[in-house]
Amino acid sequence: MTLLAPSLLAANYMALGESIRDAELAGADYLHIDVMDGHFVPNLTFGIDMVSEIAKAAKIPLDVHLMLENPERYIEQFAEAGAKIISVHVEACPHIHRIIHQIKEAGCQAGVVLNPGTAAETLTSVLSEVDLVLQMTVNPGYGGQSFIPGTLSNIAFFNQYRKENGLHYRIEVDGGINQETADLCKDAGVDILVAGSYFFQSADKKDTADFLKK
Ligand code: DX5
Ligand code: ZN
Repeated sequence: MTLLAPSLLAANYMALGESIRDAELAGADYLHIDVMDGHFVPNLTFGIDMVSEIAKAAKIPLDVHLMLENPERYIEQFAEAGAKIISVHVEACPHIHRIIHQIKEAGCQAGVVLNPGTAAETLTSVLSEVDLVLQMTVNPGYGGQSFIPGTLSNIAFFNQYRKENGLHYRIEVDGGINQETADLCKDAGVDILVAGSYFFQSADKKDTADFLKK
């Protein structure tokens, strides 16, 4: 079964508690939180205090996606705020091995994220040390964009590499996930689907979650 992480980027900010409850009642496995700094990506979103408030309200674990320059400055604060998984972009981290261990030492699961234009092979030397590989299937920064099909070859690579090397990291995808693209990702070996607009705009969130997780 595939796991589902609805992205709160597409939630109702004026009634965030309700959006969280909707996701949980629909059967979500994680809440995906997109933290953007206006530098690594053009957009600005949630900060540490917001993550801390969400953690108090949520019954399911927080999957925190840091789209930040210098994310190493904030790892302990996001861990303290209640993140379960912290993922950082390889493009923002010249010392990716060091930060993976910083995340683990802070008591969280460590994820590495790749933009659509980044080669999967960039990560082979650290794949035995991560809990999660998050493949961006859109260019990060905004919800509601279209899935980039060329990213499927990276997903297939991570799935194959995991099998060949007896590794256990999970593969997550983020961006443009809907019924059709979810199937493509599942066929390529994905374990966790992030879904923002498709999930929160659906009329029946339970049906949507059931379908995506099947
Ligand atoms: C984009 C974010 C995504 C976003 C996905 O930078 O990382 O998590 O919320 O939104 P949808 O599912 O609408 O493409
Ligand atoms: Zn995200």
